[in-house]
Amino acid sequence: MKAGPFSLYDKDVSGPVGPATQRTALRLPAGFMKNWTLDDIAWDAFDRSKVDPELLKLVKAAALVEHNGYEYATYLKNVFGEDAEFTTAIDGWAREEVQHGEALGRWAMMADPTFNFDTAFKKFTDGYKLPLDVTTSVRGTRAGELMARCIVETGTSSYYSALRDAAGEPVLKQICAYIAADELRHYKLFYTHMRRWLEREHLGKWGRLRIGLARIQESEDDELAYAYFAANAPAGAVYERSVYAGAYARRAYAVYRPGHVQRGVAMVLKAAGLDATGRLNDWLTRLAVGFMRWRSQRLARAGA
Ligand SMILES: [Fe+2]
Ligand SMILES: [Fe+2]
Repeated sequence: MKAGPFSLYDKDVSGPVGPATQRTALRLPAGFMKNWTLDDIAWDAFDRSKVDPELLKLVKAAALVEHNGYEYATYLKNVFGEDAEFTTAIDGWAREEVQHGEALGRWAMMADPTFNFDTAFKKFTDGYKLPLDVTTSVRGTRAGELMARCIVETGTSSYYSALRDAAGEPVLKQICAYIAADELRHYKLFYTHMRRWLEREHLGKWGRLRIGLARIQESEDDELAYAYFAANAPAGAVYERSVYAGAYARRAYAVYRPGHVQRGVAMVLKAAGLDATGRLNDWLTRLAVGFMRWRSQRLARAGA
């Protein structure tokens, strides 16, 4: 098969950055399995000696955000009310996101028997609220909303690929491989619906890129920071965004290898309608890899 925009070169993602055009593997991530359930996870293979305590903190936070999928479905149904084709697809999407939370939460409780998922999830949802009383997208247009969703799925697809490759514990590795494959399908789902909405609404390439970059910037807003706080802070600790956003970013940025970033950049560029695998990709990948290393090291020095 020819390398196209969906050739997300999952092969050798941990290697050095090379010209994106030379990467040709066209396949879903290793461990791809559609419609998996918790029973497909080899829980018996759990190896406590291989649990990385820093990855465990990230997994706990991720479990809470994923498990909030039905809330996102409510928001998206409010925004896309009359689009039955989309709102039907959203139910299946939300079920998968919630299952990601269940799998990660179950693993986190195996790795840390003191972790209570239900308590942490309540703390998260009590303190972090989505804007559910809206009928129009916070992005201005429905195409813009779908662009933002493409960015979120790009982020999760790259992140779980990076976690899969960073994990030494075999059960976590399997869970992250399954989730990464789901997130790539989610990206394709939102991308397909965005193309449909772009026929009705005008949103140019640069407008899409602007929304994409804004959504990337929001990754250091409250959602992930609050999830990290709810999952990891000791009882009685007071939430401070900068502290917990820093603690999360320090650990999360550290798991990425250049290949994961390059694949993510390709997905962002494709969603914006720009050349996904050309020189712009190489340039943005180098910029993003440099930023993530700098930020992670700086936060580590500051004791985040
Ligand atoms: Fe997910
Ligand atoms: Fe997803």
